[in-house]
Amino acid sequence: MKVAADEPQPKKMKLEEKALSENLLFGMGNPLLDICAVVDKDFLDKYGLKANDQIMAEDKHKELFDELVKKFKVDYHAGGSTQNSVKVAQWMIQKPYKVGTFFGCIGTDKFGEILKKKAEEAHVDAHYYEQSEQPTGTCAACITGDNRHVEEVVSQGDCPVDSHKKGHRSLVANLAAANCYDQGKHLDLKENWQLVEKAKVYYIAGFFLTVSPEAILKVATQASENNKIFCTNLSAPFISQFYKEPLMKVMPYVDILFGNETEAATFAREQGFETEDIKEIARKAQALPKVNTKRPRVVVFTQGHEDTIMATADEVLSFPVIEIDQTKIVDTNGAGDAFVGGFLSQLLSDKPLEECIRAGHYSAHVVIRRAGCTLPEKPDFK
Ligand SMILES: Nc1ncnc2c1ncn2[C@@H]1O[C@H](COP(=O)(O)OP(=O)(O)OP(=O)(O)O)[C@@H](O)[C@H]1O
Ligand SMILES: *[C@@H]1O[C@H](CO)[C@@H](O)[C@H](O)[C@H]1NC(C)=O
Ligand SMILES: *[C@@H]1O[C@H](CO)[C@@H](O)[C@H](O)[C@H]1NC(C)=O
Repeated sequence: MKVAADEPQPKKMKLEEKALSENLLFGMGNPLLDICAVVDKDFLDKYGLKANDQIMAEDKHKELFDELVKKFKVDYHAGGSTQNSVKVAQWMIQKPYKVGTFFGCIGTDKFGEILKKKAEEAHVDAHYYEQSEQPTGTCAACITGDNRHVEEVVSQGDCPVDSHKKGHRSLVANLAAANCYDQGKHLDLKENWQLVEKAKVYYIAGFFLTVSPEAILKVATQASENNKIFCTNLSAPFISQFYKEPLMKVMPYVDILFGNETEAATFAREQGFETEDIKEIARKAQALPKVNTKRPRVVVFTQGHEDTIMATADEVLSFPVIEIDQTKIVDTNGAGDAFVGGFLSQLLSDKPLEECIRAGHYSAHVVIRRAGCTLPEKPDFK
């Protein structure tokens, strides 16, 4: 009480200064329901999965999802990379609600209902394109690891992954409805496009390049023409490898490029950068051609427990992550998404880039101590 009474004036002023409005952050991506389970090696072998990987479901994975649910104890979480980041940004901001907007496609089914409910609970302004031909997308997280820790946490109803030591995670995404995002039937509608125009920061992870590169380009061009901030993520090695052309079509509009070390390495190889040095890769990606030259590109690469690298037009810097006793890590799944969410939350109030990174490290630090990309009630970021 005393403390609050000491300086009520400046605190209030500061709050007013920082007030954000609805729909300032626009995200678009693949809304997926994550299905997590600890599986055995036979299961991975049967479906030709690597212990640590991230792939798209193919024909041979058709039965995987049913078998996973039948054979193993599973947990469901609302997911999808971009949706997770928007959710984390909104959590960092807290109020007002609905600073974050999210577009994506779901089915008119039970999983779709769950996703809608989760978005609402997270106070994200989700406007899904709903269609009945395809079911809501899913992402199987197949966890293996002989460590007891894994079994223990799972039996408590959580979904652990520590790709560093304890367990391995193989992700298989079945986009289904997410793949059916229809620009003409959703993004282009007047009331939806108005939400796009309302935003000042945009985030569409590279994964969405497999769904609608045209929709990404439309949003990115709008951002560029109005000197607003468009951000994307390398998302996974297969994006740099197999969606190189659409990725490089969007790149000239990218103001902030995110990625982790593995994704950066693949991107560099595909682009013929001829270097494996992460700082050098960041510098080269920063210098790729750009349309809006008023805003030089910023490149941010995370490296798990190692320093995060940031390249601006002037310099390449590294920032240590928040130190954590590695045994306290429950699940690094979603760490990257959380980092991006924290970063964006500060970017929205025009904070310096160093502050954005600090917030990214903070939210990632929170998420890795919990199962999945879940969050406590409130952040404690100062
Ligand atoms: N072992 C760790 N110790 C401390 N911090 C970590 C660790 N792993 C992740 N982090 C935090 O999370 C951020 C993102 O991590 P990372 O680069 O592993 O993302 P990622 O590989 O994309 O994660 P994921 O794909 O599992 O979501 C790091 O910058 C750091 O802040
Ligand atoms: C980076 O992300 C990829 C998925 O894109 C993942 O397979 C890989 O393990 C991550 N790298 C690190 C070092 O965490
Ligand atoms: C997106 O960017 C973050 C931060 O640079 C990175 O950790 C992550 O691996 C990238 N990909 C995904 C799927 O989050």
